[in-house]
Amino acid sequence: MQVIIYDDAQQVAQSAAVWVKTLIQQKPDTVLGLATGSTPISLYKELVDEHKKGNLSFANVKSFNLDEYHQIEETNPQSYRSFMKQHLFDHVDIDQSNTYLPTCAIGENPRAQGLAYEEKIKQAGGIDLQILGIGANGHIGFNEPTSSLVSRTRIKTLTEQTITDNSRLFSADEEQPTMAMTMGIGTIMDSRYVLLMATGKNKAKAVLDTVAGPLSAMCPASVLQMHENAVILLDKEAASELADHEYFQWTDEQNKKLNAEFGLFHNF
Ligand code: GLP
Repeated sequence: MQVIIYDDAQQVAQSAAVWVKTLIQQKPDTVLGLATGSTPISLYKELVDEHKKGNLSFANVKSFNLDEYHQIEETNPQSYRSFMKQHLFDHVDIDQSNTYLPTCAIGENPRAQGLAYEEKIKQAGGIDLQILGIGANGHIGFNEPTSSLVSRTRIKTLTEQTITDNSRLFSADEEQPTMAMTMGIGTIMDSRYVLLMATGKNKAKAVLDTVAGPLSAMCPASVLQMHENAVILLDKEAASELADHEYFQWTDEQNKKLNAEFGLFHNF
């Protein structure tokens, strides 16, 4: 696990963008795993800016999002498809027929839909780089505490805390979904690289549980301790409960030297 602590959220986004951009330049047909939520919005802005400057093309990229609300219309402004269009897809040259979300429409069987999503990821060659945010309760995607650490794409019932945390995004007249389809923790763990972004004080406890353990289904993100290439990008507030800041900074300096010589990625 590589923990990198930045001064602020903007630097976290810029760093995440460098990872994504470097990978796409190295492997133009990258398969990206994408996340929604407030945290990655500034990453997507960086990527859109890079694209507009002519430095980055998504023409051959495929993407798989982590999650989508159950039985929501694609065109609903609250759908994660709408979110992705608003923040990324509509502003870059990605072929939107190569962008996938784990949808389950009314009348569709969520179990069959979950299996089909897994199959689609497999057919694409697997996810090269998965972007993650983290819930205040340690969830990744919508894998709430107690989710199986080897779970695959499936339907999940959201916890009270997640519903409350996300209620800020819904107006009084909008119905807030309480169920969602999500990649499983096993699905996320199959990604070649994982880039988890966390910013703000309200993530500090979840970050502590993720990095310092114990590994537990009560903090789904703690499973990343078992991932070969997990990079945790934090601002100071999200890192505020972690000890060993100096060690992480020292490690980062050493890694920068290695990266300058050998590149950020070692297995593509
Ligand atoms: C949401 C999403 C997660 C996201 C998390 C944190 O419910 N399903 O993928 O990482 O909550 O979101 P935010 O970045 O807005 O804090």
